[in-house]
Amino acid sequence: MVSGNGILTVLVLLALQLQVLLVGGDYIPPVKFDGFVYQNRHFNYDTIQIEAFYDPLCPDSADSWPPLKKALHHYSHRVSLVVHLLPLPYHDNAFVASRALHIVNGLNRSATFPLLESFFKYQAAFFGAPTRNLSRASIVDDIVKFSSAVVGNSYHNSIKKGFNDTNSDLLTRVSFKYAASRGVSGTPFFYVNGFVLPDTGSALNYSNWRDIIDPLIGTKKGRKTEESLHYFL
Ligand SMILES: *[C@@H]1O[C@H](CO)[C@@H](O)[C@H](O)[C@H]1NC(C)=O
Ligand SMILES: *[C@@H]1O[C@H](CO)[C@@H](O)[C@H](O)[C@H]1NC(C)=O
Ligand SMILES: *[C@@H]1O[C@H](CO)[C@@H](O)[C@H](O)[C@H]1NC(C)=O
Ligand SMILES: *[C@@H]1O[C@H](CO)[C@@H](O)[C@H](O)[C@H]1NC(C)=O
Repeated sequence: MVSGNGILTVLVLLALQLQVLLVGGDYIPPVKFDGFVYQNRHFNYDTIQIEAFYDPLCPDSADSWPPLKKALHHYSHRVSLVVHLLPLPYHDNAFVASRALHIVNGLNRSATFPLLESFFKYQAAFFGAPTRNLSRASIVDDIVKFSSAVVGNSYHNSIKKGFNDTNSDLLTRVSFKYAASRGVSGTPFFYVNGFVLPDTGSALNYSNWRDIIDPLIGTKKGRKTEESLHYFL
């Protein structure tokens, strides 16, 4: 005869096993944290961390990058940036462009931001009317050529192979899911030290970035940390 305790133990074990199966199937974390780190300025607790969610084929993302880049150069190592890609479903070919960025990042990490900037500059060629009649295959071909031209034609075959490798597809899905998990559904979108920036609907210019970051660093006369906290809280 099996005791009540015995049955309970068996049930608990079964439940645990089921949980492991479910977790194992659906919630395996990615091998690496999502995102591209700007100029190798890794996060540490003494830097201000900006997280930008960008779609390489989004005009507003493109507009927001030059002022942010200028601010990053102004603050140098006191500020770090991680870019997460969020290929939006209503931007044609954004997933293909994002995949190209993951492929290139895997081949030569330093080429990631130059390629992102090129997508921002020439994005009009890759969505909307100019691509409406093109097949998926020919768009991938165009983006392979475009990316090779930016990072070096010696990479052409590797980039092409990257599009035939499910890993780059997986990495791009992870980016999308990561953005979703952070509650981001549009681009550009910014977090500063883990907090959502208020009013990011309008484009942030350089002086907006200075107004946000100066008080956090404590460089601006008359500004106190307390005031900057009010900005966020
Ligand atoms: C990697 O990319 C950077 C930036 O585009 C470039 O300067 C460098 O030469 C590349 N390295 C290799 C090995 O291709
Ligand atoms: C796309 O195809 C349609 C139908 O064949 C044609 O009317 C249209 O002009 C084409 N558009 C472009 C941008 O090539
Ligand atoms: C793509 O991958 C498949 C199988 O992994 C392989 O048979 C095929 O030759 C590859 N194509 C290219 C263009 O590399
Ligand atoms: C930056 O944007 C603010 C509004 O947020 C505006 O008042 C200001 O004039 C802009 N500065 C520049 C240099 O465009």
